[in-house]
Amino acid sequence: MGKVYVFDHPLIQHKLTYIRDKNTGTKEFRELVEEVATLMAFEITRDLPLVEVEIETPVSRAKSKIIAGKKLGIIPILRAGIGMVDGILKLIPAAKVGHIGLYRDPETLKPVEYYVKLPTDVEERDFIVVDPMLATGGSAVEAINSLKKRGAKSIKFMCLIAAPEGVEAVQKAHPDVDIYIAALDEKLNDHGYIVPGLGDAGDRLFGTK
Ligand code: URA
Repeated sequence: MGKVYVFDHPLIQHKLTYIRDKNTGTKEFRELVEEVATLMAFEITRDLPLVEVEIETPVSRAKSKIIAGKKLGIIPILRAGIGMVDGILKLIPAAKVGHIGLYRDPETLKPVEYYVKLPTDVEERDFIVVDPMLATGGSAVEAINSLKKRGAKSIKFMCLIAAPEGVEAVQKAHPDVDIYIAALDEKLNDHGYIVPGLGDAGDRLFGTK
């Protein structure tokens, strides 16, 4: 079973409050989502392997550590996932970015892939799939399916707000995928929105309605 990590650092909680507030406008919303993504990236990279190198400080020779050249890939689920990418790239600028677009089939109500563009070396990369909201879990499960189908071996899922239903769906379909969230909310409403949530993340990020 995949683990669930809630990143409830005070800075994340503070910023999330303003992200949730319906009176927060597009510009501020976008900036805050990016900032929270940066803070979450700091936590999610805690387990990156290090190697020792030898350097010279102005005072003496020293052994010190650097990140062991891990290949990372960030995969935003279109379109709201895009709002988290720049914030993550601030800390891991060398990561490659792939995109997965899904739409909901009006008859089956199941997510269907319409766009997938990934880095070429999928099998060698550690991926972080990002989407601000983990609601029913349908898109997250399908995006992870998509990555696995193309050879991905190591996948984490990161979002701002999750509903228990979404967490359960990802854990059930992908027990090898750990989930990183800023807040676990109460439930989904009849329209599939997370309660209390933040509304439609894509619309709030891009100023559409
Ligand atoms: N997607 C959103 O943008 N918001 C929700 O509450 C659920 C899914």
